[in-house]
Parts: sequence; C-alpha cells; structure tokens
Amino acid sequence: MDRKITINTEKLPRHIAIIMDGNGRWAKQKGMLRAFGHENGTKSVRETVEACAKLGIENLTLYAFSTENWNRPKLEVDTLMKLLVSSLKKELPTLKENNIRLNTIGNTNMLPENAQRELADVIQQTKQNTRMVLTLALSYGSREEIISAIRHISEKVKNNQLQTADINEQVLAQHLYTHNLPDVDLVIRTSGEQRISNFLLWQIAYAEFYFTEVLWPDFREKDLNEAIISYQNRERRFGKTSEQIK
Ligand code: FPP
Repeated sequence: MDRKITINTEKLPRHIAIIMDGNGRWAKQKGMLRAFGHENGTKSVRETVEACAKLGIENLTLYAFSTENWNRPKLEVDTLMKLLVSSLKKELPTLKENNIRLNTIGNTNMLPENAQRELADVIQQTKQNTRMVLTLALSYGSREEIISAIRHISEKVKNNQLQTADINEQVLAQHLYTHNLPDVDLVIRTSGEQRISNFLLWQIAYAEFYFTEVLWPDFREKDLNEAIISYQNRERRFGKTSEQIK
C-alpha cells in the first residue's frame, strides 16, 4: 500500500482520545517544578483543540485527570484543579467562536466546588454548539465507569425495567459516561509510555494506537497531523480479512 503523507479529510477519525503524558518530565528537563509542565500543557491542549476543530474531527476526548491522580501530592492536585478552572474561564470565548461543545466524563462530583461550577457554566454556555464535542475526562477511571454501568443495569433488572437476556453491547454502552459518543477510532499517548492507564477500556475495542516520544507540552499541530496520517495509513479490519474490506 502506498504510504500517504498528507491528511485525507474524507477519512478522518470520528473520535480521537489523547493521554496527555510527560508534563512532569518536560518541566524536570528544564530544571523547573512540575506545575510549570502542567501550565505549558494547557498550551498544547489549546492548539490541539483548535487543530482538531479546524480539520473537522467530530469528537476529541482528553484524559485530564484520572481517579489515580488523586493520589498525587496535594499541592500538585491543587495546581491541576486551579489550571482547570483558569483554562475554562480563559477558553470559553474560543469554544464559543469555534462552535465547540464541552462535555465531561468521570466522577466530577469529586472535583472542588469551584471547578464543578465552572464546568457546569461552560457546558451550559456551549450546549448548542455542533462543530466538535470536546470531552474532558476528569476524575475518570474506566473500571469504575464499567462497574457503575453494571450497577445501573442491575437496578433496572431488579425493578423489572430490563430483562437479563436483553443485556447486550448496546445496553452496556448506553450506561457508560460516553453514552452520547461514538467509539474511539484513534488513541494518542505522548511521552513514550505505551500503556492505557485505565482509559476508555470499553470504547477502544477497535481503536488504533499511536505512541509518540514527544512530551505533552511540546505536542503541536504537526504532531497531531502525523498521528492522523499514521492512522490513515492503516487498514482497519474489525476482525474481517483484508479482501473483505476491499
Ligand atoms: C500527565 O503528565 C498529565 C496530567 C496528569 C494532567 C494533564 C493536564 C494538563 C495538560 C493541564 C490541564 C488540563 C486542562 C484540560 C485544562 P505527568 O504529570 O504524568 O508527567 P510525567 O509522567 O512526566 O510525570
């Protein structure tokens, strides 16, 4: 197969999910505190969101804070929460201008109250937007999400709203935080780590993976484009043979 070197806008991934990793190492390399890495990480968030919207990506999901991240030193957790609030305030006009809708997944009632308020405000003010859905995974853990879905389904079975025999993939998917999003097509992880870290385990069943050595604060539009080109040069077979796809 000829390797394409430019993006084919007819064959874009519908849903890109990014594990933004390497802020701490980026700061350390510069002899700075970890917070400096996170601050610079917000610039990459901004550039990536705008680049995705410009290209016509319909869904972008960013792993901003995992359930496990609560175990980090309190000072770092506080810094990340402050950055979330300040970024939301700062980026609201850009989200509106670019017709982007904000969405969250995760146990967001664990977040500080001011962060919850700011999120609710931005979600409300962007809810009519249609060009792209930007989902922030906050206090998110995929195993917890699946357990929570099973609990809801079990309640429905107990109350006779659902029969056990009717539980299928669709039913489970409808009870996940991501019920209104399509499956992930492309997962990108920065900083050279090659693992999933409890991110969208159900939703990535047929996703393509792209790992790059670039640390998140250095991630730019050209890096996003490289990931998409790599995705477009692969053959997604969904369990079928190559011949069946053609
Ligand atoms: C991973 O780097 C990054 C995070 C845990 C948080 C990501 C947060 C941001 C980019 C900033 C705020 C986000 C938004 C949406 C406004 P790391 O700290 O694990 O880096 P390391 O592995 O090098 O230590």
